[in-house]
Amino acid sequence: MSEPRSRAQTIETLRGARPTILPSLLLCDFANLEREVRLLEEAGVDCLHLDVMDGHFVPNLTYGMPIVDALRKITQLTLDVHLMISDPSKYAEQFADAGANSITFHIEALSEPKPLLEKLKARGVAAGLAINPSTDFNRLLPFVPDCDLVLIMSVEAGFGGQAFNPIALQRLSELRSSFGPELLLEVDGGVNEKTVGQCTVNGADLLVVGSALFRQADYCQAMTRLRREMQT
Ligand code: DX5
Ligand code: ZN
Repeated sequence: MSEPRSRAQTIETLRGARPTILPSLLLCDFANLEREVRLLEEAGVDCLHLDVMDGHFVPNLTYGMPIVDALRKITQLTLDVHLMISDPSKYAEQFADAGANSITFHIEALSEPKPLLEKLKARGVAAGLAINPSTDFNRLLPFVPDCDLVLIMSVEAGFGGQAFNPIALQRLSELRSSFGPELLLEVDGGVNEKTVGQCTVNGADLLVVGSALFRQADYCQAMTRLRREMQT
């Protein structure tokens, strides 16, 4: 096992990789998790996106710390945890301890997020906030300077396979012009070969892709096509 990565190293790694595609494991073959990770590594992926849902903040229920811990044991890839849970203050640090490199939680779940962002940073992870398309953007803006990354949702959090909401493009572009090139901008939901290029043009660095990758037979080919569209 190698040494855990520091927050600064994670930020540097993510900045160095951008723009990059983050497979969301929501739709992967969980009976063969290690094989899925190897296939994604072979396809040149540098970061995995893990969607944690509690059946309360969102109607769907997924997985928790044990999956992060299991992944940490088998891969050096950056693990990016997206918490869609009602009580991030209670659990977020446990995800850091399980081996997450970056963690985002929702502004809708915690209206005073600064103390938790600071705790996560102190725990060695890159920390950020996520916001749903239907939430007033002004709720997020005052806290952007406290974030290492911001996750702009392009669907309402909860399920894979939904259609891309273009409000995300405006938000990405506004954040990029207001906060400069250092801030890591992530976009999640409905990102596919048709939408990925618009996301990067508007400033997205980290592009989360679920169904557009996991519904394809060959991850290498799907990644090649996504990367090509991402650059144009
Ligand atoms: C939605 C999740 C996403 C989702 C992406 O709540 O946060 O990460 O799995 O899946 P697609 O790409 O299918 O929208
Ligand atoms: Zn997500």
